[in-house]
Amino acid sequence: MKNLVLNQIPYVLNETNFNFLGEKYEGKVRDNYLKNGIRFLVTTDRQSAFDKVLTTIPFKGQVLNQMAVHWFKKTAHIVDNHIIDYPDPNVVVAKECEMLAVEMVVRACLAGGGWRDYEAGKSLSGIELPKGLKKYQKLPELILTPSTKAEKGKHDLPISEEEILAQGLVEKKLWDECKEKTFALFRLGQEEAAKQGLILVDTKYEFGLVDGKLTLADEIHTMDSSRYWLESSYQERFESGLDPEMLDKEPIRQWLIAQNYMGDGPIPEFTDEHRAEIAMRYIDAFKIITANDFNCEVGSVDERIEKNMRNYIA
Ligand SMILES: Nc1ncnc2c1ncn2[C@@H]1O[C@H](COP(=O)(O)OP(=O)(O)OP(=O)(O)O)[C@@H](O)[C@H]1O
Ligand SMILES: [Mg+2]
Repeated sequence: MKNLVLNQIPYVLNETNFNFLGEKYEGKVRDNYLKNGIRFLVTTDRQSAFDKVLTTIPFKGQVLNQMAVHWFKKTAHIVDNHIIDYPDPNVVVAKECEMLAVEMVVRACLAGGGWRDYEAGKSLSGIELPKGLKKYQKLPELILTPSTKAEKGKHDLPISEEEILAQGLVEKKLWDECKEKTFALFRLGQEEAAKQGLILVDTKYEFGLVDGKLTLADEIHTMDSSRYWLESSYQERFESGLDPEMLDKEPIRQWLIAQNYMGDGPIPEFTDEHRAEIAMRYIDAFKIITANDFNCEVGSVDERIEKNMRNYIA
């Protein structure tokens, strides 16, 4: 496996130029192409952390994209989603949605930005949690901590439900539907994760409207939008004050912090060996989370996508 992943390094997908798919919008990880109400989401191998693109990881785009597709399929009975087709392992063809102005963040445990705000004595999007909670603690119940959708390059900011309604960012009836779907999606995610011995810790959903109908867009339960921990060791480690075993981006963040990097200044160098290790962690996580095999073929991702997409739109 290690060799296979190392051999893929020269072929990583860092940049795309599929102008035949439409007008390009570049996110940190995905390149979006827009044409006639259709959005082609191409997930690249770019790795971001602290809101910066830092390196590329072989097969990461495929892992992320196929994980999103897996969850979109599993949740299609709960809410409509933007997927029309997935003609390539790295590509989703989606309906262009009119996006809501807020992102729906759900938390089952106290981690990441939620923990940082709690520790600093702040409320979480207006929610006052009980005093004395510890880092990584399971919360008494799921909480919704929405954030605004910031413009490109800016950080999203937490916003309370009250503010969302008072500012008319989402009207009440739609908001209630959105909230209900959000919790239903998360509960299903938790149940499915539990079957695989995992805790779905937190996640972020982005909804939009298609012909006035609430539609789940963007990505779902991927390792760029969610945290997953191993259930088996969670309690014991929590009680001993140890970090949970994590299947997400946290080990990368922690390595970066150890190199004195938190988003500013020169980017630490990722050796090929390190990139391959990260890739293997992503692939393992894919297999555990989806209970599916991961099909990795060494070769040019860029050329394969070009071929598949030219066929698709022909
Ligand atoms: N089906 C869709 N219709 C309309 N907009 C969508 C759809 N799916 C996702 N989007 C939006 O497309 C934009 C681009 O997404 P992407 O996640 O690739 O980049 P980004 O959010 O700018 O950067 P990053 O997520 O890397 O920080 C986001 O604002 C997302 O909300
Ligand atoms: Mg995004």
